[in-house]
Amino acid sequence: MPNPNMQNSNMQNPNAWPAHPPAPDSLDIVIRPATAEDASAIARIYNEGILDRIATLETELRTEAERRQWLAGKSPRHPVFVAVAAVGIVGWASLNVFNPRRCYDSVADISVYVARDWRGHGIGRRLLDHLVIAARERGFHKLVLATFPFNAAGLALYRRVGFTPVGTYHEQGQLDGRWVDVLVMEKLL
Ligand SMILES: CC(C)(COP(=O)(O)OP(=O)(O)OC[C@H]1O[C@@H](n2cnc3c(N)ncnc32)[C@H](O)[C@@H]1OP(=O)(O)O)[C@@H](O)C(=O)NCCC(=O)NCCS
Repeated sequence: MPNPNMQNSNMQNPNAWPAHPPAPDSLDIVIRPATAEDASAIARIYNEGILDRIATLETELRTEAERRQWLAGKSPRHPVFVAVAAVGIVGWASLNVFNPRRCYDSVADISVYVARDWRGHGIGRRLLDHLVIAARERGFHKLVLATFPFNAAGLALYRRVGFTPVGTYHEQGQLDGRWVDVLVMEKLL
């Protein structure tokens, strides 16, 4: 009987990367590792995503101090990157621990957030392309994420970069008193 994982792997053709055209390069954006001084901008952009109710089940707004602590707790294997435009930081993305048990060391969870006014300009794509390269360099085998089925921009971005749906967690959490489904996606590297 064929190994379903192999089938999946072949379908995604992991050796063919990049399987999509490169991200638009017209914006003058630099992607670099985040530092503690970026905590305020990261919190601001994260809070926009939280307030928009399209990105996360989190509803608690973050502070600079909380994000500093978060950055300090990240290991080299799970970095945070920021997208920097002439005006400053306009987006961030991170590799996160998927599960602290060692048997899941080859899997990373991801986050990506672009400032409201800068969405739809290819910055999410640039950040995610960067994250995929960083994950490969760190020896990860797979990236996973959880998103809302109604996050059109997120879904378009993830599909574009080669993530495929795994399944839906029904009524995984509440947003403003309503149960919300969460779609899980993965990308074999
Ligand atoms: C989701 C998010 C990171 C995408 O980043 P972005 O910079 O806006 O997206 P990009 O401009 O790189 O676009 C990536 C793809 O999505 C498509 N897209 C962008 N916005 C879209 C929208 N509102 N509806 C449908 N498709 C959209 C683009 O056309 C592009 O696809 P293409 O390459 O096939 O043309 C960004 O919108 C964001 O930060 N949203 C709030 C936070 C969030 O939802 N984070 C993800 C949590 S799971």
